[in-house]
Amino acid sequence: MCFLFVMWMTASSARAAGGPVILPPGPAKTTIEAKCKQCHDLKKIVTQHQDAKWWANTLDKMVERGLEIEPEDQARVVKYLSKNFGPSSGSKKATH
Ligand code: HEC
Repeated sequence: MCFLFVMWMTASSARAAGGPVILPPGPAKTTIEAKCKQCHDLKKIVTQHQDAKWWANTLDKMVERGLEIEPEDQARVVKYLSKNFGPSSGSKKATH
């Protein structure tokens, strides 16, 4: 019973938020899941369709805001995001 209740709670809160965000597989996926969720929803990320320059600037902005990330992880995240959420990625990659 208890388990079912938890399942129900989880399902309904996910629905209220518009469903969980599923990132495409890639080397930076775990970094993003571990670091970016500390301040905001991943939806803020996956709804963007921007080039590498924009992502690099945005990551710098996040660092100014308090993101702690190794430079090589940051570079990997920029690469991953501009590949998966680049200007030509359309809306199909963003899980709504
Ligand atoms: C220390 C807190 C913090 C962390 C960690 C963080 N962000 Fe942010 N991020 C913010 C704030 C504050 C905003 C702007 C306010 C808002 O829209 O909620 C923001 C907004 C954004 C936006 C929207 C565009 C913009 O410039 O407003 C994107 C995209 C974004 N973050 C990406 C990321 C990514 C990718 C990561 C992980 C690598 C990350 N953020 C980690 C604080 C953070």
